[in-house]
Amino acid sequence: MNFASDNWAGAAPAVMSALTRHNSGFAPAYGTDPLTDRISEKFNEIFEREVAVFFVATGSAANSLALAAYARPGGVIFSHSDAHIQVDECNCPEFMTGGGKLAGIAGADGKITPQGLGEAMAAYPDGVVHHGQVATVSISQATESGTIYTLEEIAAIKETARSRAVPLHMDGARFANALVTLGCTPADMTWKAGVDVLSFGATKNGCWCAEAVVFFDPEAAREFEYLRKRGGHLFSKSRFVAAQLDGYFEDDTWLAAAGHANEMAARLADGVRNQGGRTAWAVEANEVFPILKRRQFEALEAAGAKLYEWPAKGLSSNIAPAGDEVCLRMVTSFATTEEDVTAFLKVLSEAA
Ligand SMILES: Cc1ncc(COP(=O)(O)O)c(C=O)c1O
Repeated sequence: MNFASDNWAGAAPAVMSALTRHNSGFAPAYGTDPLTDRISEKFNEIFEREVAVFFVATGSAANSLALAAYARPGGVIFSHSDAHIQVDECNCPEFMTGGGKLAGIAGADGKITPQGLGEAMAAYPDGVVHHGQVATVSISQATESGTIYTLEEIAAIKETARSRAVPLHMDGARFANALVTLGCTPADMTWKAGVDVLSFGATKNGCWCAEAVVFFDPEAAREFEYLRKRGGHLFSKSRFVAAQLDGYFEDDTWLAAAGHANEMAARLADGVRNQGGRTAWAVEANEVFPILKRRQFEALEAAGAKLYEWPAKGLSSNIAPAGDEVCLRMVTSFATTEEDVTAFLKVLSEAA
């Protein structure tokens, strides 16, 4: 019963066998190998246009370097206040952007709205040197609350960003989970909706360490190679990142893995609700935030379940945990089994 995080899972079998398959012999280093070229081509195919793709090792590096590509003197980066770039990256975006400022925007369901974004950007009018200047807007898809922006919501946020001529970044640490839920194409969920640069996450969904920064305007990526190298993310044995992605894309492993993780999350949420419980936010990807009795949480921990207590910020009073309740975070992955889900729900009902 391990629901601690999708990055607690191992690597998917297809990824591991691709690593072994591509391990023999020699290949040019630093991303100049034929496999890196082939996987870069694959990104063009997946996104239905020519993209500039750069492999990095972590989601924090992908986000921070992507934002650094659009840095400006006195630049301000706008995102939800709970965004990973705001709370979980140890000021890496500020560091990589050379002192960029992160402006957090509150918003229900882990999402920013065009109105909230417009108001936040209004505090930084063009031409007022004292306040700094708008630089980038960043959204997470799926969000840190396990919800998903619709294509219309992304396009509306882009319109607001466009009104101030700033690019839109998407933190896609759980890109595949969101994609499977929306049932659209990768192109629809990104550049067709106005995304300029994407942190394409694969680690959480079955790779070992494989993330990519994808620019939809290759011109914007002109100097990115230098940012990545300076940031310490140009791998000498880059072929092994490409190898992971080869296994990841093979036979649509990535979509199957995300579909399975989402399905397990939906079953957990249904089970909680069937027992009269509730979740803090809608379960739209592979994260579930159940609100349980504290004694149920204790029983789950005693039974060996791994899951975290979570700050239930911004919830309306009819949803927020009562005195004897606790909000938890559970994350499913390709490795979550139906038996894990059943075992969890059994402990929950016994401790009801
Ligand atoms: C929304 C989001 N973005 C990015 C990341 C990437 O983080 P890391 O640098 O740990 O790979 C995570 C991981 O928890 C995440 O949840």
